[in-house]
Amino acid sequence: MTVLGTPLSPKATKVMLLGSGELGKEVLIALQRLGVETIAVDRYENAPGQQLAHHARTITMSDPAQLKALIEKEKPDLVVPEIEAIATAMLEELEAAGTVRVIPTARAARLTMDREGIRRLAAETLGLPTSPYVFCDSLQELQAAIDSSIGYPCVVKPVMSSSGKGQSKISGAEDVKAAWDHAMAGGRVSHGRVIVEGFIDFDYEITLLTVRALDADGQAQTHFCEPIGHVQVSGDYVESWQPHPMPNAALQRSREIAKAVTDNLGGQGLFGVELFVKGDAVWFSEVSPRPHDTGMVTMCTQWQNEFELHARAILGLPVNTALKSPGASAVIYGGVDGHGIVFDGVDKALRVPNTDIRLFGKPESFIKRRMGVALAFDADVEVARTNAKKCAAMVKPRLA
Ligand SMILES: Nc1ncnc2c1ncn2[C@@H]1O[C@H](COP(=O)(O)OP(=O)(O)OP(=O)(O)O)[C@@H](O)[C@H]1O
Ligand SMILES: [Mg+2]
Repeated sequence: MTVLGTPLSPKATKVMLLGSGELGKEVLIALQRLGVETIAVDRYENAPGQQLAHHARTITMSDPAQLKALIEKEKPDLVVPEIEAIATAMLEELEAAGTVRVIPTARAARLTMDREGIRRLAAETLGLPTSPYVFCDSLQELQAAIDSSIGYPCVVKPVMSSSGKGQSKISGAEDVKAAWDHAMAGGRVSHGRVIVEGFIDFDYEITLLTVRALDADGQAQTHFCEPIGHVQVSGDYVESWQPHPMPNAALQRSREIAKAVTDNLGGQGLFGVELFVKGDAVWFSEVSPRPHDTGMVTMCTQWQNEFELHARAILGLPVNTALKSPGASAVIYGGVDGHGIVFDGVDKALRVPNTDIRLFGKPESFIKRRMGVALAFDADVEVARTNAKKCAAMVKPRLA
């Protein structure tokens, strides 16, 4: 039975977000609507979620001592990781000691923090279909893995990276060294380990948002949102839409795979399960134990968007994953490097029918940094895609 308190009172329900970017900001908004007291943590000051939470804290979240000290001081009821680069071993320690509950579980945060834990779990423990893969610690090992088993084309990724950083596709022997060097420069921590994966020639890829929420008897039940289609450029999402039409067999298979992975990771909350689809065949790619960037489209397509679903599920409340309308999202990039940029054309952008935008409020812009997102709904998902892109293109970031 969930009891919710009053913020800033002794009985407050306190939730700490580890990572307060655009996704964390929306989770914070959803929590605040339920009267939860929020603590937004990030590695830099004035991160989007810190601008609206009750409390803002800036620490190095990958430093176990700093993380422990903050959790012990703030004593949140729940710790909600919103990024991967966190001292997850410390979260496991604190969870085991009963100090705090980690969402969905500390083990899930650890296994999904790098590509190796989750890939080995999915492919080797659960026997789910994935691309063929080998982990390599040197250029020589990479070349040997390609020559002996993976072949060309293939994809190389640092084990610790996201949003396509350090990732490249290799078409032939001449690309291998450049891909290795790119991975070494783009990884989050330079411990020099990569995964090389056989290239899957999929028809399309989807994110299947999967929610583990408690039913009236307190048992975890699995709920699925409609599949989200998306386009990735250099491993980074540029547009997404929902629903993505798919044959029934592929949808059922996708749900089975998503259920197997999320059952194993356990706990309560929303997961973004990334899948590749070709005909009726489905491959597991990766999973985020938290809202997914491509799922921002649900801010205009579902009665309860992915952030509200996450907030409700982690608090033990019921969820509704029903679609409200088909729709689409398109990313607004910074386009310039600079602090305190301004956005022209928002008025024009919002005159595109049935659109909305979010500007995240990031203090610093980079050419390829995601600074906002355009949303569009329409009975026809293709019209929504066109309008979301049109709306995004009309927003013109520039130096102040
Ligand atoms: N083995 C593969 N075969 C074909 N395409 C792939 C393969 N691996 C990755 N990709 C493409 O690259 C994209 C990014 O890969 P992946 O999701 O592993 O990286 P990421 O850095 O974790 O990205 P993000 O953080 O944005 O999810 C995939 O969505 C897919 O479009
Ligand atoms: Mg991905």
